[in-house]
Amino acid sequence: MAQTTMKRGPVSGTAIDRATRRRRPFLIDLYSTAVGKKYVMAITGIGLLGFVLFHMIGNLKMYFGAQDLNHYAHFLERLLYPILPEKYALWLMRGGLATMALLHIHAAYTLTVINRHARPVKYQSERDYQVASFASRTMRYTGIIVLLFVIWHLLDLTFGAGSVNSYVGTKDAEGLKDVYGAVAFSLNRVPVAIFYVLANIALGTHLFHGVWSLFQSLGWNNPRFNKWRRAVATSFATIIVVGNVSFPIAVLAGVVG
Ligand code: HEM
Repeated sequence: MAQTTMKRGPVSGTAIDRATRRRRPFLIDLYSTAVGKKYVMAITGIGLLGFVLFHMIGNLKMYFGAQDLNHYAHFLERLLYPILPEKYALWLMRGGLATMALLHIHAAYTLTVINRHARPVKYQSERDYQVASFASRTMRYTGIIVLLFVIWHLLDLTFGAGSVNSYVGTKDAEGLKDVYGAVAFSLNRVPVAIFYVLANIALGTHLFHGVWSLFQSLGWNNPRFNKWRRAVATSFATIIVVGNVSFPIAVLAGVVG
């Protein structure tokens, strides 16, 4: 009887896949894992924290008067001039900032999708919620509020788009962009001022948990450090919220403007 020799394929596709698949660059490979995404969230988060801190410190110049704030904005536009033409360094920083923000959002979104797949059935018991703090449970929502705030904020104070802020583009007595006047114009509108206050409280909650968990993501989570982690997260979030919330209050109180 003729014997039929059947060639047996691999048990699963994995063996062939591994052999034939072209290797992706290491960083892309790492980013496809949950751990890689957490790294990206932590590293871009540190960059964004730096921006938020320096932005708040820069804005404190409004307490020294219009000239100081407008000169500061002008200084940023002329950063590295004449090595680079005016505004080039500023645009490079804007590019870096936008890239970090996009990566941060993409990693957050894709991590949420991975977590949903890992746990298709929602937590059933109330008890589980006690484990996660209020800040950690609300990261997604505070993140979305901050994103919506930034979109409004750019239309308002950077672009002065349409009727959002008709003052943007006005020059001061020295012929410089009157950033001080634009801030006063914007925050003198009570609903806008209230939105700034609420959005910055959401930002503070987001920052608190963000700072707390970036230690975890980077592997610095020895229980001995937890007291310090909490102190650093609380101090950072408080400094940002107090500084930023003071601006709309100062404008409405007539201290600025
Ligand atoms: C009450 C608090 C704040 C005030 C008074 C304020 C003020 C300003 C002003 C005046 C500008 C325009 C600067 C210029 O055209 O030279 C600006 C730009 C900007 N702000 Fe704020 N800001 C505040 C809070 C925030 C927060 C909380 C964020 C982020 C979470 C943020 C993100 C930005 C960004 C991304 C830009 C664009 C920077 C650029 O393109 O150069 N700001 N802000």
